[in-house]
Amino acid sequence: MKNNILTMAFILLATNLVNSQKAELPDALQKKWWKEAVVYQIYPRSFKDSNGDGVGDLKGIISKLDYVKSLGVDAVWLNPIYASPNDDNGYDISNYREIMKDFGTMEDFDVMLKEMHKRGIKLIMDLVVNHSSDENKWFQESRKSRDNKYRDYYHWWPAEKGKPPYRWSFFDVNSNAWKFDAQTNSYYLHYFSEKQPDLNWENPKLRQEVYAIMKFWLDKGIDGFRMDAFQFISKDNTFPDLPKEIVNTPAAIIKYYLNGPHLHDYIQEMNKEVLSKYPNAMTVAEGAGDSPEAAMKFVDPDRKELNIAYHFESVDVGKHLKDFGLVKYKSIFSKYDDKFEDKGWLSIFLANHDQPRMVSKFGNDTPQFRELSSKMLSTFVLTMRGTPFYYNGDELGMDNIRFDSIEDYQDVDTRNKYIGIKNKGGDLNAFLAIQKQSSRENSRTPFQWNTEKNAGFTTAKPWLKVNPNYKTINAEAQEKDPNSVLNYFRKLVKLRKQEPALVYGKYTLLDKENPNVFAYTRELNGKKILVLLNFSEKNAPYNIKIPIAKSKIILGNYKIKKINILQPYEAQIIELK
Ligand code: NOJ
Repeated sequence: MKNNILTMAFILLATNLVNSQKAELPDALQKKWWKEAVVYQIYPRSFKDSNGDGVGDLKGIISKLDYVKSLGVDAVWLNPIYASPNDDNGYDISNYREIMKDFGTMEDFDVMLKEMHKRGIKLIMDLVVNHSSDENKWFQESRKSRDNKYRDYYHWWPAEKGKPPYRWSFFDVNSNAWKFDAQTNSYYLHYFSEKQPDLNWENPKLRQEVYAIMKFWLDKGIDGFRMDAFQFISKDNTFPDLPKEIVNTPAAIIKYYLNGPHLHDYIQEMNKEVLSKYPNAMTVAEGAGDSPEAAMKFVDPDRKELNIAYHFESVDVGKHLKDFGLVKYKSIFSKYDDKFEDKGWLSIFLANHDQPRMVSKFGNDTPQFRELSSKMLSTFVLTMRGTPFYYNGDELGMDNIRFDSIEDYQDVDTRNKYIGIKNKGGDLNAFLAIQKQSSRENSRTPFQWNTEKNAGFTTAKPWLKVNPNYKTINAEAQEKDPNSVLNYFRKLVKLRKQEPALVYGKYTLLDKENPNVFAYTRELNGKKILVLLNFSEKNAPYNIKIPIAKSKIILGNYKIKKINILQPYEAQIIELK
């Protein structure tokens, strides 16, 4: 009896101790699956076509899940697969509870989810609710009459009040976010294309519709959401005239869009009504304001909003690393990490379906350096603090296709801007030259599986041209080569999974002013890892003393190392003992 009481007392004491230690851990060290995960982004249209119509689909993804599993990743973020007329490749949704015909059926979806979960892969879906498609039932109703019950699901401006105050649009031919609709003699708002009318979040009924959609998918068993254009959802419905300096530049107007009056109230409401009921779901908003402080607001745990901040400063910095330089680039990551050292959580990414290929922007895609610099960039993404979001095809070192002709582009962004410039008699050649480097189409070309026709992506004509370099850059060839970009990526993922210091460890930037080398340490519980990355095509010295006897290289992209110097695009991960 006495022994029992003693044992009980001991257990209580021990439990309290563990709990109090837990309570003392800063938020950034609290364990969460989504902090430890490597997220692999699949662009479904371009991943694998199973039925020979030239468009990737869900059955195609299912057929490649063993490949996805073999990468070692934990979760897949899938771009939108909902019913859509595809004005913006699925970012214009006509029915939030149906699957796009091109991609398959709800049965296919259920099988895909089950097969992912069977392999221990989680599924993150895209939630696109800043706008819908103009073919969505809500909008079809809304535009019928001014007293339709869906009228206030969108933003309307009655024409008798005159022209609405100017708002800039990302994809409109004339960059004008207001479109006149004769049926009710009113203008509607579209920050993106005219087929993507903005939803009115100031209407509580609309918000309830969104929450119901979220529950529908979460109840199906998905593991979270990436929230499209989320920083734009809240608007000042009076649409005041904007100061001249804002109206005149797109960059300034985007800044204005970020500051919607009730943005964070709505996210908190969503958290209360939906997310708090699914505590394991991962949530990441696309865009996170224009500063580390603004980004923190989305993910500060005390505010009860979202999990991961996905900010754009590190990709919006310029067209190519050569233009903005490594010192500036390093300072952006360091500035954000500094703010997030103790709480909140960031994502780390260099590419996605809206960006050119990672190697073409931050690396060097000439034959001499493409593989080396791809490996170096992957090393960066997999060793930084923050959840890696890794874009499909980058693990092969796929690069920009650089279309010559406007006919090759399918993207509403490029096509509409082209028409806009043409209408104004602008310089179309200059525009096309820029698109070669920065168009989103560069990262949307079909996945390069093998050397068969169309890179093994489809047996039909692919919806977007396949990069002709698939004969040399493809997954099948790289499977066989132990030194391939693909197999190097796998080693990196494995290392991150084995080494908590790479997930939770403190980040410290070294040799800050070095124009070619990005060097940092990651430290946790006495373990210290040094990462050295040469972002240039030259040998690059660095100013860091490494105790050679007390260090061990864990992974790198060169077989032979040199002392105190990094070779072109060299990456080294070193354990310091
Ligand atoms: C961001 C998405 O990533 C992009 O592809 C899309 O065009 C816009 N939001 C509009 O939904």
